[in-house]
Amino acid sequence: MVTLNVNGRTVEVDSSPDTPLLWALRDDLKLKGTRYGCGAGMCGACTVHIDGQATFSCQMTVGDAEGSEITTIEGLSADGTHVVQQAWIAEQVPQCGYCQSGQIMRAAALLAHNPQPNRQEIVDEMSANLCRCGTYPRIIRAIERAAQEG
Ligand code: FES
Ligand code: FES
Repeated sequence: MVTLNVNGRTVEVDSSPDTPLLWALRDDLKLKGTRYGCGAGMCGACTVHIDGQATFSCQMTVGDAEGSEITTIEGLSADGTHVVQQAWIAEQVPQCGYCQSGQIMRAAALLAHNPQPNRQEIVDEMSANLCRCGTYPRIIRAIERAAQEG
């Protein structure tokens, strides 16, 4: 049993400390918005915030996450009104949608640390998250919109 702080709540997960955090989020806590893509730190579908930093949850164990503030897409805002979520809607970013919660979480962390990133900074940061549908131009536009409106 490991105690975690997820989306502002203290929760207990029935996992061994070496279980990947992604497994605990999806299987124990039923927070299915965080996606399994590769399980190897190569795609970004599993991106969450750990103490505000965009982090691959497939590459962190629940033991290492204990004591940190974990935020998933479900906790980014109460009602989908985070400026990044609104910009994603305005720019109609998703295609199949599979990668998008990870993209939004990375974009939100970027803007929290750098509220006015230039285009190259956006491209560099977002290069950690892959999109098989090639929505990259809309992702960039949405982040620029969020930076303007934030
Ligand atoms: S599932 Fe974690 S990086 Fe791909
Ligand atoms: S929207 Fe389909 S993988 Fe990104």
